[in-house]
Amino acid sequence: MKRHVIGSGALLCLLACNGGGGDDAAMPAGTATKAIEAVQAAPSAPSEEMAAVADATATATSGARDPGPRGAPFGAGEPLAGLGAYELKAFELGKEDFSEAEAADEGLGPTMNLDSCLGCHSQPAAGGTSPPINPQVAFASKLSATNKVPAFIRLNGPVREARFVRNPDGTPDGGVHALFTIAGRTDALGCQVRQPDFATALANRNVVFRIPTPVFGAGLIEAIPDREILANAARLASAKRTLGIRGRGNWVVPFQTISGQANKNGNDGTLGRFGWKAQNKSLLVFAGEAYNVEMGITNDLFPTERDETEACQYTAQPNSSADLGAATPVEGIASIDKFAAFMRLLAPPRPSTDAPGGSASIAAGRALFDSVGCALCHVPSLRTGNTAVAALRYQPVNLFSDLLLHDMGTGLADGVAQGQASGREFRTAPLWGLGQRLFFLHDGRTADLRQAVLAHRSDGSEANGVITRYVNLVDREEQDLLNFLRSL
Ligand code: HEC
Ligand code: HEC
Repeated sequence: MKRHVIGSGALLCLLACNGGGGDDAAMPAGTATKAIEAVQAAPSAPSEEMAAVADATATATSGARDPGPRGAPFGAGEPLAGLGAYELKAFELGKEDFSEAEAADEGLGPTMNLDSCLGCHSQPAAGGTSPPINPQVAFASKLSATNKVPAFIRLNGPVREARFVRNPDGTPDGGVHALFTIAGRTDALGCQVRQPDFATALANRNVVFRIPTPVFGAGLIEAIPDREILANAARLASAKRTLGIRGRGNWVVPFQTISGQANKNGNDGTLGRFGWKAQNKSLLVFAGEAYNVEMGITNDLFPTERDETEACQYTAQPNSSADLGAATPVEGIASIDKFAAFMRLLAPPRPSTDAPGGSASIAAGRALFDSVGCALCHVPSLRTGNTAVAALRYQPVNLFSDLLLHDMGTGLADGVAQGQASGREFRTAPLWGLGQRLFFLHDGRTADLRQAVLAHRSDGSEANGVITRYVNLVDREEQDLLNFLRSL
């Protein structure tokens, strides 16, 4: 595959990425861990998607550069302003639990992707996204576990979870296949379970990836009424039509949460909004699902083990529940409720007014973001409704997303349908906090902001009209726009 030296991420990739691999997600330059980049240069899935990114890049060389992740102050990780004493207590207990690494006797596994929420959600603070060093590499052999590290997991690449597109009989799969097992761990004596065969799945191009989405400001997103999302969807209709932008909600239909897998989950027919495909309804549902799917810890929302191998269960199910005998009620709420409270009460990321590039450049970039048409999908602000938590009530939410699904074409397609979302549709990624993000797009395929924008363009993408305007910007304008994005 051809490589063009566009930004810091691409440059690093020339040094660190396997030439045939096509995986541009090396850590951006300027982070503290450059020294390890040569250590883990494992090849990853060769794929047509990566080729599409390279092609888009080839046709759009430019003098503009991704300024790279913004340094301190990070402006993320604090609780919302104006919380009451019990809310603050729930936030703190939730953060503690979110940060704790779990063991087999607490229900970890038998299969999982990591042992703490924090491990995947830590950049630049608890609640964020993939850190510069992927903790999944060390976790594979933690406590003498015998896991092989799959080729798409690299020390300086993003945290990833893997989904298989199809079952062996060709029917749709789409579900998460856990990377690791507890087999061999000193806290899991007698347990034998095998890892999925990722090498074969890679060879068959049957595996797709997701990287963690950040949860800063997630309570504000949760508190936006459906009617606000739908009213926004109807705004600026003629501008959207001219550019070919549609967008639709991911209505959660009972028993259809993952297509091809019947009877997995039932919901209430309102709009999904969390996750790369807006597939989940609420922070509590996401917490319960992540606890079981990412960590293998069953709970009151998802009480059944995904792998029921008896010799590998070291505690009763559900593994985690409310503690009715706790000293105080707030201490006794279940871990999933604590996770939800922590995420709900996390303040949104604070943007910078002057870094990178100075306030004039950022202001110019903000105006271009509108005039080019990015803002038609990445809607700068929505509003919350009459929410029980006072600090979330009737607040602006400066998330830069319409929370709708858009067809992103063949280049970003992952072939996985979730709810109403097809294999080519994704939720407009909220851009708040982008200044601190190290890896971009649902599969973390690039660490270069400019390439993330160019990857919006491919056959059938609703963003094609906007990206054509973007590549026609002169270098100075494009730099202003990139500076604005990194100020978020
Ligand atoms: C192995 C890594 C990993 C672990 C551990 C993990 N997550 Fe995540 N998280 C992800 C990935 C990947 C996504 C995106 C999933 C998707 O959209 O399919 C995500 C998305 C989320 C989201 C959605 C946010 C949004 O707006 O899209 C929430 C909420 C969340 N995680 C909470 C948690 C909680 C709570 C825990 C601990 C119980 C946890 N996660 C543990 C990887 C992880
Ligand atoms: C048609 C709607 C649409 C338009 C127009 C659009 N985007 Fe996006 N954007 C998306 C979607 C959907 C994603 C998530 C795609 C994925 O991960 O596969 C995304 C992802 C991104 C990301 C990566 C965020 C992350 O966390 O990984 C950036 C950066 C971004 N867009 C910037 C822009 C800019 C700048 C423009 C204008 C030049 C723009 N977008 C125009 C829908 C759009």
